[in-house]
Amino acid sequence: MKMHNFSSGPSILPPEVLQKASEAVLNFNNSGLSLIEISHRDPSFVEIMNSARNLALELLNLENKGYSALLLQGGASLEFVRAASNLLKVDGKAGYINTGNWANNAQNEAAYFGEVVEVASSKDKNYNYIPKNIVVPNDLDYLHITTNNTIYGTQFKDFPETVVPLVCDMSSDIFSRNLDFSKFGLIYACAQKNAGTSGVNLIVVKNELLNKTTRSIPNIMNYKKHIERESMYNTPSVFSVYVSYLSMKWLKDLGGIPAAERRNLAKANLMYSEIDRNSLFYGTAAVEDRSTMNATFFLKDEKLTTAFDELCLIKGIYGLKGHRTAGGYRASIYNALPMTSVQKLVEVMQYFEEINF
Ligand SMILES: Cc1ncc(COP(=O)(O)O)c(C=O)c1O
Repeated sequence: MKMHNFSSGPSILPPEVLQKASEAVLNFNNSGLSLIEISHRDPSFVEIMNSARNLALELLNLENKGYSALLLQGGASLEFVRAASNLLKVDGKAGYINTGNWANNAQNEAAYFGEVVEVASSKDKNYNYIPKNIVVPNDLDYLHITTNNTIYGTQFKDFPETVVPLVCDMSSDIFSRNLDFSKFGLIYACAQKNAGTSGVNLIVVKNELLNKTTRSIPNIMNYKKHIERESMYNTPSVFSVYVSYLSMKWLKDLGGIPAAERRNLAKANLMYSEIDRNSLFYGTAAVEDRSTMNATFFLKDEKLTTAFDELCLIKGIYGLKGHRTAGGYRASIYNALPMTSVQKLVEVMQYFEEINF
């Protein structure tokens, strides 16, 4: 039996992607070779890399708009550093909105490169809301936002009005909803939620923002260098790039971001209506800021934890445990998670209520 996988990342992948990825490990394109034992300079892999980069721009509707896409290693945590080292000028200033642990980490890493201003924060209420009416200073090199707070389950629905470039960590909601992506100067995301598996980051950057700092940037950290080398400055994580390529192709075949958004809204609505209805559970994220990707909830009576965990296990539900810093439960309902898995979880929550009433 296939488990219902609510893991927050690495997370569920579409069955078609798993099938094709495993075939490629055994016999890539009927070449008699494995994908992971050929050179990354082999034309067949170069084509995968180029197609993946093009697909990312196509899905985000950023083709021919002055953006480049890269697939690089190091996790989103490396992008915290790479973004700041490329965009924060020597003697410059960057603004950060602190809406969760990851946003906070991004902010702390940027401070190694220059002055960082915390423009707004929701730390006062344990990151359970998104700050509103944010006034962004005009003298920033950029404003950094984490669009979706994977840990506490909040998500920006609107973005602050600003004249400075918007830099976004979209690790946990990229490709999940329709946005005007040309609003953003730099988008980055680790792949292991909505864009493939761990081992690769997707970076989409507006070319005109690069080369504005006088800082010397080591090649491996330099977006410009990676663009010149078409994301092949050094050996890419070939398997992860291939899984990203397959995941993006799956999304395109599904109908692209608009289709994913419709599915995601339906799943999130069902999930949150059960959290609100069920007398045993409650949510803590501000209702208007609730994430469509990570629904967090808690048991009113913590003594029921073991019983609920055991029931989930028996019913084939995996990965529901909340982040270690947040506790409770978190249903990650990324693009690849089918509606039937949310229906199953809701059914289990209802049954649990019945037997504990
Ligand atoms: C929003 C966000 N940013 C950054 C990260 C860190 O990603 P990585 O572990 O790939 O460095 C995560 C991980 O879950 C995340 O959810």
